[in-house]
Amino acid sequence: MSVAKKEYKRVTVKSLVDMKANEEKISMLTAYDYTMAKIVDGAGIDVILVGDSASNVMAGHETTLPITLDQMIYHASSVVRAIDRSLVVVDLPFGSYQSDPKEALRSAIRIMKESGGHAVKLEGGKEVKESIKRILNAGIPVMGHLGLTPQSIYKFGTYTVRAKEEEEAIKLKEDAKLLEKIGCFSIVLEKVPAKLAQEVAESVSIPVIGIGAGGGVDGQVLVVHDMIGMTHEFNPRFLRRYLDLYSEMTTAFQQYNKDVKSSDFPNEKEQY
Ligand code: KIV
Repeated sequence: MSVAKKEYKRVTVKSLVDMKANEEKISMLTAYDYTMAKIVDGAGIDVILVGDSASNVMAGHETTLPITLDQMIYHASSVVRAIDRSLVVVDLPFGSYQSDPKEALRSAIRIMKESGGHAVKLEGGKEVKESIKRILNAGIPVMGHLGLTPQSIYKFGTYTVRAKEEEEAIKLKEDAKLLEKIGCFSIVLEKVPAKLAQEVAESVSIPVIGIGAGGGVDGQVLVVHDMIGMTHEFNPRFLRRYLDLYSEMTTAFQQYNKDVKSSDFPNEKEQY
């Protein structure tokens, strides 16, 4: 079933801006490997984010901070090999763009050259403005990320909703306008009040893609392992689980274990 207003053979950064102008919502999911990306792309999801959440989901780290540029490139190149239609956006990991704009550009170039991704995403507003400009000047599309920015978890101290206070809400609105002005093609807005998120989306012409930011924005993103229920200890209010794969996989593995132990597997038809 498709609710697309227009068919996009290949989704580009321009398609996303068109989708916003045509009031078509944008779908985005994470993927970190070939097999998952093939399914996500085949299902018609517009954008695949090779998120630095791979640090948590794939590598078991507590935060997104440890993942390296080399590891992001490995994940992204696996995803790119699977894609026919989706736009592939790759996170610049912590430490690869904050120290100076030249380093940011070098990191973004490595991602584009070595993975074949179509755009990069990085966290922050005014503080990373010069880095974003430098990357954009090299012709690399940039997606911003505001609100809860997990790479700054040690500054925030918690993963709770951001910008509930006026001062932070004002800065967020200014940052969104700034990202639009300098040329970002889109912004991820994470875990902020729905009313504020809608105001931000209405104040800019580029698409705002929310996670925990309500329905008044231009699109939605979820971490794929969360929405298919492979992770089961993470239960934020914003998460809708479409499957309970944790339970289904556990049942399958238990059955396999039983079948091997009892010599039920393989049977006669399952051998040569
Ligand atoms: O890394 C990630 O998966 C993300 C999403 C949560 C937006 O940045």
